[in-house]
Amino acid sequence: MSSLRVGFIGTGPKPEKAGPMGYGMANHHAIAYRALPEGEVQLAACCDLYRDRATTFAKLYGIPGEAVYTDYREMLAKESLDIVSVATWPDVHAQIVIDTARARPKGIFCEKPMAYTWGDCKRMVAACEESDVKLGFDHQRRYGKPFRMGRQLIEQGAIGKLVRVEFGAGDLYEYGSHNFNLLGYLAGCTRAKWVLGQIDYAKWNVVFDTHNENTALAYWEYENGVQGFGATGRCADFVGCHYRAIGTDGVIEICPRDPAAKGQHLRYRVFGKSEWQYVDTDCEHGHGPGYIERAVADFVACTKAGTDSEVNGFSALDGTEIIFAIWHSARIRGVVELPLRADDNALASMVNTGDVRPR
Ligand SMILES: NC(=O)c1ccc[n+]([C@@H]2O[C@H](COP(=O)([O-])OP(=O)(O)OC[C@H]3O[C@@H](n4cnc5c(N)ncnc54)[C@H](O)[C@@H]3O)[C@@H](O)[C@H]2O)c1
Repeated sequence: MSSLRVGFIGTGPKPEKAGPMGYGMANHHAIAYRALPEGEVQLAACCDLYRDRATTFAKLYGIPGEAVYTDYREMLAKESLDIVSVATWPDVHAQIVIDTARARPKGIFCEKPMAYTWGDCKRMVAACEESDVKLGFDHQRRYGKPFRMGRQLIEQGAIGKLVRVEFGAGDLYEYGSHNFNLLGYLAGCTRAKWVLGQIDYAKWNVVFDTHNENTALAYWEYENGVQGFGATGRCADFVGCHYRAIGTDGVIEICPRDPAAKGQHLRYRVFGKSEWQYVDTDCEHGHGPGYIERAVADFVACTKAGTDSEVNGFSALDGTEIIFAIWHSARIRGVVELPLRADDNALASMVNTGDVRPR
């Protein structure tokens, strides 16, 4: 089979210091494609609204000068791409993915979070289904050893029957997109039945053009009966670790905050025993290294085989539904039964109506 032709939308500048005003994620995608075995893919074209950014990117990754664009629709029309990587900010993901699906590449690998409204998240998955295009999201962390080995412990019964999964970190949406994906992975079930949440949004917090609450507390239940709990902002530390899985016989912690863990990233304890068992994750921690490379490799292999990767659009939808449902729950002050019917972004809507007034 000939090399798959890869194109990039939203090359970004390559930041000297990555941060919430620009990570240049397309560079991470490009590095991951280049790490694939020789001949698997060809970095064929790229596009950014700023020509200089796309030109610099093209030079860095060996893309021919004539395949540099500032209009992605023109790139899609001219370049016969097999895979398109989308690394723009989330508020334009949906439009770009829907337009790209119409050009019928084999696959679209898009940055998280999916999109800025629940309706748009569903539309982008539906557009790819209709056009028979494989859609994947960069929820790369589930390929990391602390998470893989954590799930293995659950499957081996190290903590008995799984009862509950928890996270305490960051926010629900921008960073949280990863966390809901990971908890679904640990729970062995990505779909939730109901959600109850409350938020505080007093201080303006717009990241990548999207509102993010300051603090949230939420409970939900997966279809397999496993309970979920999440805390963000000022309550995040109350959980005591990034991720926890609680079973009938014990508890697993991933990325514990306990200083006694001495920088180790996975541990478990059986109830009734005071000693933690530490599991060697080969220095892999919550963020890497090498996770984006694995996510891209899995996505490319599955796209070639015509199958869904682990980071497919449906698993992203299930985690993302919980996020939008928590914001909606805060709006209606009650339990939200899923599937979620409110297609907007309740947090952004509440800001627009003045129901929350971040300053
Ligand atoms: N997977 C992760 O761990 C991770 C980490 C950081 C950021 N992200 C996500 O990556 C995404 C991109 O963030 P970033 O920091 O890399 O962005 P960035 O600002 O570095 O780059 C985005 C680029 O997209 C371009 N762009 C916007 N609209 C466009 C259009 N219509 N056509 C072509 N180009 C367009 C912009 O000009 C910009 O250069 C965000 O959704 C963010 O949440 C993911």
